[in-house]
Amino acid sequence: MTSAPIQTNLLMTPYKMGKFNLSHRVVLAPLTRQRSYNNVPQPHAILYYSQRTSNGGLLISEATGVSDTAQGYPDTPGIWTKEHVEAWKPIVDAVHAKGGVFFCQIWHVGRVSNAGFQPNGQAPISSTDKSLTPQTRSNGIDVAEFDPPRRLSTDEIVQVVNDFRLAARNAMEAGFDGVEIHGAHGYLIDQFLKDEVNDRTDKYGGSLENRCRFALEVVEAVVDEVGADKVGIRLSPFANYMESSDSNPEALGLHMVESLNKYGILYCHMVEPRMKKVGEMDETPHSLVPMRKAFNGTFIVAGGYNKEDGNKALAENRADLVAYGRHFLANPDLPKRFELNAPLNKYHRETFYLSDPVKGYTDYPFLDTIS
Ligand SMILES: Cc1cc2nc3c(=O)[nH]c(=O)nc-3n(C[C@H](O)[C@H](O)[C@H](O)COP(=O)(O)O)c2cc1C
Repeated sequence: MTSAPIQTNLLMTPYKMGKFNLSHRVVLAPLTRQRSYNNVPQPHAILYYSQRTSNGGLLISEATGVSDTAQGYPDTPGIWTKEHVEAWKPIVDAVHAKGGVFFCQIWHVGRVSNAGFQPNGQAPISSTDKSLTPQTRSNGIDVAEFDPPRRLSTDEIVQVVNDFRLAARNAMEAGFDGVEIHGAHGYLIDQFLKDEVNDRTDKYGGSLENRCRFALEVVEAVVDEVGADKVGIRLSPFANYMESSDSNPEALGLHMVESLNKYGILYCHMVEPRMKKVGEMDETPHSLVPMRKAFNGTFIVAGGYNKEDGNKALAENRADLVAYGRHFLANPDLPKRFELNAPLNKYHRETFYLSDPVKGYTDYPFLDTIS
């Protein structure tokens, strides 16, 4: 009789991230769900996040707007008003009640928007005035239309940096354990980072150092506000979502992590090069290993992971933690399933962004409700 090979389930081993004692390494990836009516987080999010909380598990919130110019999708939450902060509080409390660690992903969409989402119907702001072509939304059905953006003047940039600072302050006021700066996926920060988009000639454009300046000013402001031990950032140097590719993503990623080291932030969360396009996996010769090696803090990877693959990344020391998006969306008890080697529920793409407070949101079954 041959016995099955002993496999260490590294995903289920503890990890100390700064002052946070995580009991396992399965992270809830940030997932926009478009159920925060009028940008206000809703009571149904209490159940949604609490379902996905485990004692000692790390959760990252859906992308949350830093100001009234930050929005580009219907019903995504904000954190720039008192009302938003108050609405987040019971959600954060519910996660804490179950022993979870909860970070708020703070976000500005930049040019991925149109006048309909902007105050007084103004143009969206960006690093550039180049328009985006209409894009099929990730549900594969809707088409998003964009208005030509207005290029921020050099002097205005400080105000946007300050919006991130205030959003971080508000997130702490709401009770979050920290913030994740959304620097990925073609949104405002990425619009500065990537040379396909950034065509500026001032100190925020041109050289790699200049293109990274805005991102690093945001990091500095947020660190100054809440402390480096409570700050993470998400980056996707290899992705080209929303027409935001870079001609040298490896140099960009490396420059960013080396610069981040100077601020001593808690974590860097990077999207795998294989997730170059939204929701699709590509073959790629690239890897995040050089950035993982260069970064001094906790390194979180995301993009196309299953249990086996996540364990492999940990075994090969390519990451400290692995974030799961679609599998966690569809499996509220994902860490438990990984622990028990249980089968997974399938995710339903067509309900990702439904406005419904239950369907496709809090109605995915738990293991013990499956007979
Ligand atoms: C429904 C949905 C919403 C998403 N929303 C966000 C978001 O708000 N912020 C973000 O950084 N990434 C977002 N992503 C990307 C995920 O965090 C993750 O990187 C991506 O799904 C790949 O990981 P996966 O293969 O484990 O799903 C979203 C993805 C999906 C499917």
